[in-house]
Amino acid sequence: MTTAELPHHAEELIRGRRATRAFLPRPVPEETLRAVFTLAGAAPSNSNTQPWHVEVVSGAARDRLSENLRAAHASKRMSLDFPYRDDMYSGPYEQRRRSAGAAMYGALGIGREDHAEREAFNAESLDFYGAPHVALLFMPPNAEERMAADVGMYGQTLLLAMTAYGIASCPQGLLSFYADTIRESLGVTDRKILFGVSFGYADTSAPVNGITVPRAPLHETTRFHA
Ligand SMILES: Cc1cc2nc3c(=O)[nH]c(=O)nc-3n(C[C@H](O)[C@H](O)[C@H](O)COP(=O)(O)O)c2cc1C
Repeated sequence: MTTAELPHHAEELIRGRRATRAFLPRPVPEETLRAVFTLAGAAPSNSNTQPWHVEVVSGAARDRLSENLRAAHASKRMSLDFPYRDDMYSGPYEQRRRSAGAAMYGALGIGREDHAEREAFNAESLDFYGAPHVALLFMPPNAEERMAADVGMYGQTLLLAMTAYGIASCPQGLLSFYADTIRESLGVTDRKILFGVSFGYADTSAPVNGITVPRAPLHETTRFHA
């Protein structure tokens, strides 16, 4: 590849990553898993501290975790290491959130007022949307807000590494709403969880995987000074 071709490949890679919400059961080979997670480790971090700890869960362990999460959900046993409020996003952020939700539920054929169906889809997401693997991204026990930047950098590097290997993914903040259940299931003692990533091979026949959510125009998010 020449340097002139690089921007084109970057466009393809970055825009080729999509939140995928239906997967084939076929697992990713162990060797590919190791290659992808090694590549993700090239992410930048503050003073190269690399404050991420990743638990990659597959097979029977994945099924047990999913069962435990759904049981916690059914009995409303939530536990968050980092607080979440529904009104955290307001103004343009709230509008973008609503339009992304409308695109997703629209593709699923679930109406705006169909709370039961929406709830069922939420519960389904605790089965990692059928993905054969999930990676849980933890921070150190004493983590503070600033470290979320490092783990976020790692997260996007991981998603792009997966895309390069033909692996589809869905970052899922919702998984972190069950922090204690995840810690207990995986034998993690004191680290804090920021989010999880379900991943595997995309079910390309699923309409929910066909949605594209738009991005804000450049001038809404970015100012250039000279
Ligand atoms: C930190 C983070 C948390 C997310 N949490 C969820 C989630 O809990 N469930 C879900 O289905 N998608 C989740 N997403 C996916 C976003 O909805 C998705 O990235 C966004 O709508 C943009 O769509 P795209 O990824 O297809 O470009 C999350 C994404 C990020 C970065």
